[in-house]
Amino acid sequence: MARLPVSFQSLAIQCAALLAAIFLNYLLQISFSYQAILWQLVLAQAALAAGLSRAWGQPAWWPPLHLGFLPATLLARQAGLPAWVYLVAFVLLLLFYWSTFRTRVPLFLSGRKAWQNLASLLPQTQPFRFIDLGSGLGGVPFYLESRFPDSRLYGTEIAPAPWLISRMRAWFRGSQVNFMRNDYTTLDLARFDVVFAFLSPAAMPALWQQAQAQMCRGTLFISLAFPVTGRQPDHVVEQDAGARHTLYAWRM
Ligand SMILES: C[S@@+](CC[C@H](N)C(=O)[O-])C[C@H]1O[C@@H](n2cnc3c(N)ncnc32)[C@H](O)[C@@H]1O
Repeated sequence: MARLPVSFQSLAIQCAALLAAIFLNYLLQISFSYQAILWQLVLAQAALAAGLSRAWGQPAWWPPLHLGFLPATLLARQAGLPAWVYLVAFVLLLLFYWSTFRTRVPLFLSGRKAWQNLASLLPQTQPFRFIDLGSGLGGVPFYLESRFPDSRLYGTEIAPAPWLISRMRAWFRGSQVNFMRNDYTTLDLARFDVVFAFLSPAAMPALWQQAQAQMCRGTLFISLAFPVTGRQPDHVVEQDAGARHTLYAWRM
């Protein structure tokens, strides 16, 4: 049960809390002839869901999400928005976040300071083949292209909207960066001299195994913000902004 993805855990929690709130309401009715109003039921469900989330040991941001979910749904319903608004919001979220429920890696972007530090870790004298796993809007390879024009730069992105935006940006800039729409787990990392990732703690154990199995001796694996367990990095580049901006590099 503990290995259930957090999205399915949350679905189970919401349903269980709803059933518990309905059952509680039933007990109040038969014991005290008390008829709860809708908002009381909703708030009871929200509190139960947040409690279950804590009890299940979900990450710290989940209990507040559970607390807000059903009340927010009810408020949105009372706002009387037309149905297409929800459809558009859903499609946009789908296009940008795609299989985040499975990969547990949402889209968020790294910044110029991190790119500058990343550039300082890369081979300065000979061209190399570089890939950004989960390339988002393409910021990393575009920046590196201006610094290392002789190198071959790639990005791979699973979500359609960021991938399309990076392809269009490449087209407008006349860039040679090759943006692929692939799940990086299906790629052979042996093709690259430098593999860069800015993903999430959840993605790192499997990615590290993939890198160890596929990357060639002497190549570089670099992670922004998320280290791997089991092997100390060969280089660490810290930024004033804190651990979220630290670069970790391993010579394979
Ligand atoms: C934190 S963002 C980083 C974006 C970009 N690399 C940057 O530094 O600005 C991670 C990206 O990885 C993508 N992603 C997550 N899992 C992936 C997978 N298995 N294959 C390819 N892309 C993936 C997400 O869609 C998201 O756009």
